[in-house]
Amino acid sequence: MPKKTFPALFHLYRQGFIQSQDVHIFGYARTAISDHDLRSRIRGYLTPCKGFEETHEEDVAQFLRLIKYVSGAYDKEEGFRLLDKAISEYELSKNSTEGSSRRLFYLALPPSVYPPVCKMIRSYCMNKSDLGGWTRIVVEKPFGRDLASAEELSAQIGELFDEPQIYRIDHYLGKELVQNLMVLRFANRFFLPLWNRDNISNIQIVFREDFGTDGRGGYFDQYGIIRDIIQNHLLQVLCLVAMEKPVSLKPEHVRDEKVKVLQSVLPIEDNEVVLGQYEGYTDDPTVPDNSNTPTFATMVLRIHNERWEGVPFIMKAGKALNSRKAEIRVQFKDVPGDIYKCQKQGRNEFVIRLQPSEAMYMKLTVKQPGLEMTTAQSELDLSYGQRYQETIIPEAYERLILDTIRGDQQHFVRRDELKAAWEIFTPLLHRIDRGEMKPLPYKPGSRGPEEADKLAQKAGYVQTHGYIWIPPT
Ligand code: BG6
Repeated sequence: MPKKTFPALFHLYRQGFIQSQDVHIFGYARTAISDHDLRSRIRGYLTPCKGFEETHEEDVAQFLRLIKYVSGAYDKEEGFRLLDKAISEYELSKNSTEGSSRRLFYLALPPSVYPPVCKMIRSYCMNKSDLGGWTRIVVEKPFGRDLASAEELSAQIGELFDEPQIYRIDHYLGKELVQNLMVLRFANRFFLPLWNRDNISNIQIVFREDFGTDGRGGYFDQYGIIRDIIQNHLLQVLCLVAMEKPVSLKPEHVRDEKVKVLQSVLPIEDNEVVLGQYEGYTDDPTVPDNSNTPTFATMVLRIHNERWEGVPFIMKAGKALNSRKAEIRVQFKDVPGDIYKCQKQGRNEFVIRLQPSEAMYMKLTVKQPGLEMTTAQSELDLSYGQRYQETIIPEAYERLILDTIRGDQQHFVRRDELKAAWEIFTPLLHRIDRGEMKPLPYKPGSRGPEEADKLAQKAGYVQTHGYIWIPPT
């Protein structure tokens, strides 16, 4: 929680999106520590905000003054009464008027305690209706382990809070280039006629990390890469790549379209899945020696609708690989009646790099400059670092926390969306949990199991060869 959320709050504060006269931050947890202890822990995570480096120390001191701490259990009334008292005192000290009792509860907790915590908030910590305002809760993944547990969790929380009060956060939805996807698709004439099965051969959505579970083995082993990355982050990206144009930008319209795509995904075939586990993963003392948990997975998702029938969506995610990267690769079909033999060099590809170094580029065939009539692959490149040098690209959490304060749910996962997401993966996850599918070993620092590349090629991905000289015929 402190690693990402407090820096996000700090940056919002520093940029004036949240202001000291309006906002107070209360930490709540079981450990009995003082306000001062919490502030010193948080201080270590606050990095200078671009453009405000000179006043950093002073800004940090001011920001930390907004933070207080209350300790208590997650399922006992006492602690939550204390929390409510602390919040109410603050509200009254501010001479709150109509609309000013706005309470946002950010639950960075294991999902098993969501129900008791939500119950306590509902019973003791809601906004005071005589002061107007609202109460919202933000919950982080994992939202359950499979369809049944997610539905149970949703039902328990749903009894206590209405859907407009619940913000299920998926930080990938706050990334700059993920937020750009709808603009790209629906505000550019270029893409409208091309974005379909007639022109696109396959789409890859890839997440790679060049480090392993890094001390989080115990947590990770209960979930694995499919639950940790693919079922949420990559699937959300797939929704935005594949959905139809919503009626408007209203959150419900956008989320309606995402649900439709998810409901059109066909069951995953076992022979279109490759699982991996990096060597050394079980050396972590918190991971059982016989763990069957995948730290890598490649699988093909197929969308059964008019736009995407026959186009494989190749989802890849892995830890301890050779690089850290998240990208979308849209590969186009070969040119019909090609007189240049350019497909030998590689197909047209449109790549959206979500991180690091946000960029979008199109790989295309051009005449190799010079006297010869030869062709080569080149790029039309929009690298954000160059094009938007002066712009501060906000962190995902910054943007999403601001949305929760503003009450905009467009970039949050709706209950039916979550259900549809779990429906896709639950049968596969259960097969893995029962040990019916085994991860293949791979070397840390590699590309993952070779079988994964073979699967992508079998599904239709053609490796780009780059600059190859092709003699004219
Ligand atoms: C988290 C996962 O949701 O996302 C982590 O639990 C992963 O395992 C992280 O490392 C990746 O986020 P980002 O923004 O660094 O790509």
